[in-house]
Amino acid sequence: MFQIEPERAHHLTIAMARFGFSIPLLSNVIQSSLNPGNLQATRIMGLDFPNKVGLAAGFDKDGKYMDIMARLGFGFIEIGTVTPRPQVGNPKPRLFRLKKDQALINRMGFNNDGVEALRSRLQAYGDRSFVLGGNIGKNKDTPNEEAFRDYVKCFEAIRDLVDYFVVNVSSPNTPGLRALQDKEPLSKILSELQTLNHKGETKPILLKIAPDVSPEQIEDISDLVSTCNIDGIVATNTTIDRSGLSSSQTDLDKIGNGGLSGAPLKSFSSNIMQQIRRNIGPDKTVIGVGGIMSGADAKARINDGANAVQIYTGLVYKGPGLVKEIVSALA
Ligand SMILES: Cc1cc2nc3c(=O)[nH]c(=O)nc-3n(C[C@H](O)[C@H](O)[C@H](O)COP(=O)(O)O)c2cc1C
Repeated sequence: MFQIEPERAHHLTIAMARFGFSIPLLSNVIQSSLNPGNLQATRIMGLDFPNKVGLAAGFDKDGKYMDIMARLGFGFIEIGTVTPRPQVGNPKPRLFRLKKDQALINRMGFNNDGVEALRSRLQAYGDRSFVLGGNIGKNKDTPNEEAFRDYVKCFEAIRDLVDYFVVNVSSPNTPGLRALQDKEPLSKILSELQTLNHKGETKPILLKIAPDVSPEQIEDISDLVSTCNIDGIVATNTTIDRSGLSSSQTDLDKIGNGGLSGAPLKSFSSNIMQQIRRNIGPDKTVIGVGGIMSGADAKARINDGANAVQIYTGLVYKGPGLVKEIVSALA
């Protein structure tokens, strides 16, 4: 797979997994060797999680692969980021491997089918055994002053179909998006969502933050968790930092802009997460994501204050056996 262009390899891997699961005997073998079963079921935000290992946002942006990912043993799956209208994202190539660093750089740019298509797909999905998160964002051409309307549209469209929401203001690949992490625009988005949220069946709302936030932003974000009374934080998204990498500067220059994920993100994400946990206290939810490449990494993140963890790049480098490895380590 590592010989194939990364975005094609992503789709091909999923197609192969789908094929494997379509053959009953093979499906049983794959499932019994990979799926960890329901070890360490836990209750978070009032929801029953079969285990503490989740699929991070961006892997299944359109909710097309939930069945396969659930069969690999994920306790929760976060679909999206979805935007109100469909968009193609940035020109390809837009996903790159840094093999020496066990890392990826991506500048996908919220390519997705739009929230109405996602709604139809979720309506057609049968019973689920996993917790489903909906990660919501804004369209590229929506100005930041109007951004709250995009989050509200996405929230309303799939409110009855997901278990919790994640407000994504932290992707580095939508120009200006991270400015929404500042106090004023963030407060506007979260309070609009909460007003709506309290008018019907309430859904837990988390905020996903970047690892590249300033100490002031961490303070402001932590304050908003309590003033807007949201449920907690997903820490973190990818980083724009390139320090300490083994890959050559020439390779990095060739790749260009994008968010870095995987092993080099581990300490950034963990530091930010620990600061957030200290600030928001033990009762709020914190989901740890970024550079979790082994059972030991996941255990450390839980010990540092995460209620649950998510993986993306680890799945690419370590394969689907990582889910079982982590679930077993945490049990
Ligand atoms: C190709 C790719 C696409 C991503 N797309 C999204 C996205 O749409 N929304 C989001 O919140 N995070 C997205 N992420 C970030 C991941 O959810 C995760 O926060 C980040 O990769 C750090 O975790 P990791 O080191 O385990 O990969 C994406 C990551 C990658 C590698």
